[in-house]
This record gives sequence, structure tokens and C-alpha cells, in this order.
Amino acid sequence: AALALPFERVARAKTASDRIAVSKFPKPFTVPFTVPSVAVPVKRTSTTDYYNLTMRSSQTEILPGLSTETWSYDGTFGGPTIRATKGRPAVIRQTNELPARHPQLGYEPWTSVHLHGSGSLPQYDGYASDISRPGQYKDYHYPNWQNARTLWYHDHGVHHTAENAYMGLAAMYTLHDEQEQLLPIPHGRYDVPLLIRDAMFDRNGQLLYDDGGHSGIYGDVMLVNGRPWPVMKVERRKYRFRILNCSISRNLRFALSTGDPFVFIGTDAGLMQQPRSATSYRHGIAERYEVVIDFAKYKIGQRVVLKNLGVPNSVDYDTTGSVMAFDVAAEPTDLSGNAIPDLLNPEAPAMDLTAAMAKRTRKFEFIRKDGAWTINGRTWADVVASDYEYVWADPNLGDVEVWEFVNKSGGWAHPVHVHLVDFRVLDRNGKPPSPWELGSKDVVYVGENETVRVVMKFGPHVGKYMIHCHNLVHEDHDMMAQFRVGPKVAYDHDHPVYADPAKALPA
Ligand code: C2O
Ligand code: CU
Repeated sequence: AALALPFERVARAKTASDRIAVSKFPKPFTVPFTVPSVAVPVKRTSTTDYYNLTMRSSQTEILPGLSTETWSYDGTFGGPTIRATKGRPAVIRQTNELPARHPQLGYEPWTSVHLHGSGSLPQYDGYASDISRPGQYKDYHYPNWQNARTLWYHDHGVHHTAENAYMGLAAMYTLHDEQEQLLPIPHGRYDVPLLIRDAMFDRNGQLLYDDGGHSGIYGDVMLVNGRPWPVMKVERRKYRFRILNCSISRNLRFALSTGDPFVFIGTDAGLMQQPRSATSYRHGIAERYEVVIDFAKYKIGQRVVLKNLGVPNSVDYDTTGSVMAFDVAAEPTDLSGNAIPDLLNPEAPAMDLTAAMAKRTRKFEFIRKDGAWTINGRTWADVVASDYEYVWADPNLGDVEVWEFVNKSGGWAHPVHVHLVDFRVLDRNGKPPSPWELGSKDVVYVGENETVRVVMKFGPHVGKYMIHCHNLVHEDHDMMAQFRVGPKVAYDHDHPVYADPAKALPA
């Protein structure tokens, strides 16, 4: 089959003037594909796994021959993945040993770690203002009570989430359960994480942060698991890819160079009830899709390119039209889990909820007002000003509600994330959601002039949780709100910092 041109799109819009020359990029599909390392617990008791992770700066060769300062949870850019099992809680000590100041931007990199997709207790949810400063640590307790799903953990430190995540503080967390393990879908080495994001680099090879006046970061280098336009050798069989768009601002639309379909088996909150397919799909920021690609139909030697067709309203560079390549290299060595059953997960969370079950409907308007990104005209500044009490919504524990997300801000899309709960997408501008959205979710793409309705049930925890736009530049400036499940409770979760006095820096 014809080889798709790697960089087939025409550049438009802005150039950040000190970007490194395109000639310094590797030739597409020459860098070998790798998967992030898997974290090893420091202790395992009969009930719980304990991890010790350290946020720190390290040097990573991303562009060939250049060394780039990156930040991560263990020194490996893009990792490490945490593997958890339903019913076995994990406790993760997160120590912030980042430099006292960001090298170019000069701010102090305080952090808060959010496990995105987890129904965590509020004090372990990565509340934005619950920050750990360099030299401090916090222990995060994750119950892992939910069904199998693809989660990710990333920084959520107030007003610096975009910068911190851009430096690399984002990694995968997979939760497994028996039901998922017993399905004859691809497992083990045929179950492959793809953390996809863009980035841009300055002339010295350092990550270049340019948020276009708080609009968004649109890089010209596509990274998969931290590597630019990598190539993966695959066998002639089915693979399951857990695709995460961990870009700061770039929404993506994927297609295969062969025109063949992706088969969707999972969404943000786990396996879908039944598989769905599409030949191209929009993958908004922070969404996870588990897709199966069957390479059995190709000949050895064939290359299949994962392309990005782009999404309106983002700044596209001619180098962002391709993401990675799969080179069909061998006959399968193992044909277990080479199927896609018609029924995957009848119990997928939230899928049994209907609008008729809802106690009320609430409306959230995402709009730019006087330069600030707001939700119903208010921002996280209102939360801070109220000593963290102001809430946009206060459902009772167990209530079912419909939330209506309205985007009238011309020219912008807002991928909306609700913490704590899983939801079902009811409709978009009154029409059914896309086939790939017919699963349990925690992020929904709300495009320009769109109204998207979702239905969810609040619980199992009470307390305050965030809702925000996952274009992290919008989130930081200040498109973030909170809701409270149940009555006000007096526990100290707003800004506890569990400092290790031995490690604390002098004030
Ligand atoms: Cu993925 Cu509030 O975040
Ligand atoms: Cu937004």
C-alpha cells in the first residue's frame, strides 16, 4: 500500500519565533517506539500496595543529539505507569523534589497530584489548592474500588497545572479487574499504552512554553510515550491500544493511513457495553479510548500510519498531521486474546442512567469574559476568595442530575472534566453523541457553539470536587469550578500539606 506522507498538512497560523528549526526534528518514524516503565511497589502488604514516587527534573534526549530538561514522577519522561487491581488499595507517597523555580518561567513549582478517573476521597483527589511545595511530600490513598479502566495521574497545582504537566508531570495508571482480565481481548504485551501529546522546543532543545495569551499551547512535535513520531514493530494480529491525549491544549482527530477502522472497546471509565467502530474519531484532551487495531489483514513489510486530521480551532503545524507508524514485522507468536466479543461490559458505569431519573438539570456556561475563562461568569478566584466554600452545585449524595455544558465562546473548544463521578453523554446539540462516546466517561468535548448534556449519579463520597476545562491553559486562567456532594463537612482537605521537616527547604 502507498505510504502516507508523514507531514502532509499545510502550516497555518502562528510561529513562536524562537522555536528550534524543523531540520532538527528526527525523520518521522525513525525513533523506536517504547512503552513507559511500570512502577514497582516499595512494599506490599496483604491488603495494600505502597509506592514511593519523586517528582524531579532530569535530562531526556527527545530530539536527536539534544538534551532536554523534563520533569516526571520518577525521572523517566512519560512514566511510570502504575498497575492496580480492583479491590487492592494503593498508597503513593509523592515527594516534590522539583527545582525551587521553573528554569525559564521562574515560578515555584508547587504540585498537587490528581488521579484522573478515580473516585478518590476529597483529601486525596489532587484538589488544586492542596499544594506540596518543593521539599514536601504527601501520601495519596487510592481505593481502587472501581471497575477496570485506564486512568492517568497528572499535576493539578493551582495556576501552574499547564506548565507542570507540559514539563512531563503526567503518566498512566491502569486499573484491572477479573471481568476485564477474563475477556478474550488483547492482554499483556498486546495491551499497549499510547500517551500522545504535542510539544515545542526552543533553539537550545528546551521545552518552549508559549500559551498564546492564555489561549493554548500548540506544539509542532508529536510525542508518543515521550518519543517524537516513533515507529512500532507489530505482529499480524489484534492489538489493544490505550490511547490518552495528554496534550495541554491540542484536541486530535485520529485516522489510519489505510482508511481502516478503529474498534472502540473502552472509554474514560472502562470497557464499553459493546464495541463500536469508526474510521476516524475526535480525541479530546484528557479523554481515554481503548481501541483495537487488527494488523492481521496487512502483509509483512506494510506500514500503517496513525494520522492526526486536526480539529477546527486549534493551531495546526504541517508536522502534526502524523503521529506514529506501525510496521507490520512478523507473524504472531501468540494468538490468545485475539478477539473482540460482541458483549464487553454490561455493567459499564452510568450507562443505565436516563434524563428522566434526574432530580434536576444544571447549566454550566463556558465563556471568556474580560480576558478570563469563566464558568457561569465565575472562576476559581471566587473559590479562593470564599475560603474554598463557594460551589457551583451542591447535589446530595446519591442524586442523579443532568448537567448541561454550554459553549458560546466563539473559536474555542472546552473539553470538560468532572471529578469523582462517571457520566453518560446524553446528547450534543440535541443529537446523539458520536459512536465512540457511547461509553462511561469523565471528560466530554464541548465544541464551539455546542450544548452537551451528561447524566451522572453523585457519590460514593461526600465533599468538594472540581470541574474544569481540560485545556490546562484555560484551567489555570481560571476556568475551574467546584461542586460539593452532601452537606458542608468540616474536614481539613482544602490545603493540607504533609511536609517532611527533614526535607523542607528553608523559607
Ligand atoms: Cu485530568 Cu482535574 O483533571
Ligand atoms: Cu477551555
